[in-house]
Amino acid sequence: MIKTPKLLMIPGPTPVARSILDQMARETVAFGDMDFIADFKGLVADLKSMWRCGGEAFVVAGTGTLAMEMAVANLTQRGENILVCSHGFFGDRFIEMCTRKGLGVDVLRASWGTAYTPEQVNAELSKKKYAAVTVTHVDTSTGVLAPLKGVCDMLKTRHPDVLLIVDGVAAAGGVEAWSDWGIDALFTCSQKAFGVAPGLAMLWASARALEKRKSLGTIPESYFDFERWLPVMRDPSKYWGTPAVNMIWALKEGLRIIKEEGLEERYARHIRQAKIFAAAMEALGFKTAAAPEHRAPTLSVFLYPDGAGLDDGTFRAKLAEEGLQSAGCLGDFAGKGFRLGHMGNIDKHVLVGTVAAVERACAACGLDPAPGRGLAVLQSGLMQSGLIV
Ligand SMILES: Cc1ncc(COP(=O)(O)O)c(C=O)c1O
Repeated sequence: MIKTPKLLMIPGPTPVARSILDQMARETVAFGDMDFIADFKGLVADLKSMWRCGGEAFVVAGTGTLAMEMAVANLTQRGENILVCSHGFFGDRFIEMCTRKGLGVDVLRASWGTAYTPEQVNAELSKKKYAAVTVTHVDTSTGVLAPLKGVCDMLKTRHPDVLLIVDGVAAAGGVEAWSDWGIDALFTCSQKAFGVAPGLAMLWASARALEKRKSLGTIPESYFDFERWLPVMRDPSKYWGTPAVNMIWALKEGLRIIKEEGLEERYARHIRQAKIFAAAMEALGFKTAAAPEHRAPTLSVFLYPDGAGLDDGTFRAKLAEEGLQSAGCLGDFAGKGFRLGHMGNIDKHVLVGTVAAVERACAACGLDPAPGRGLAVLQSGLMQSGLIV
């Protein structure tokens, strides 16, 4: 019997294109290999120019959490104050990290499913002297998009000395954000909207972030110290930690795909796909947790219909049986719905397959005995938008 292929629709890792997997399967070479050095150099240069970064782009082996810690470690020092703007589980992750570092941590929280406003950030920052502020561009626990551009503009006029750290893990490569908006550290990792397998952390540091790091002298952290990696990023024939050779090639191929699509078009595609996908899921009775004005283009939290009496474990097991990998909800939404990613290199076939699997799971759980309602909405959305990917 042919096994049902798995649709990888959790909010990361996301589906990995064949050409990227092929790079991971290449024969590994020495990190001093001249061709590899040229590949690594080209990758860093592309990341830097494509995200309009006036400082330096870093690519190191690790996950999104490592990139978070890299930003905090290099842009702040013990005793300074930091404002954490959080609208979910991953925003909150900064709190413990910054507390451990010995920073004075204040938190601006938005209730789950909503975001704070730039005015609220301004009001908090006006209360005392802060060295930095964190924004989680898309919180993966809520599917909510933060008002990043508004925060950037506000900081420029109201708090120009406060450094801005942006968690772009569930956004970068799928949602518009440029280093030159005034972001001092923007970071992500390979397995989300870049559509590459897990393994690499990427961080764009502004020129003043590099200056801040320099001013700190020796910092307690070693592996992800900017000063250790700067010489490598500028000349990848240098060594600090062994580069993940095959993952660097995989990311290079991922970036080639992004370049071919074009960043602006990629951002627009994510918005189109998210809208069509949410409309199809809503036609099946699910409720998108994020308010329409806060919805992320990269992932959604879908809440079970009121009064449907669906058991979360049973429903998600059915989804898995139908070949659809989904993620459970966290925090305030735990048990009330599930999360699906719609980011990276996904196309109309993936969306159709996903909605079809949800419909079969609904039918199996007695939720909608007449499958086709979600697919009808999805298909007409795809046709109307002329979506060709
Ligand atoms: C917004 C956000 N930040 C940080 C992380 C942590 O990334 P990782 O699991 O790769 O360490 C995640 C993981 O999903 C995330 O979604």
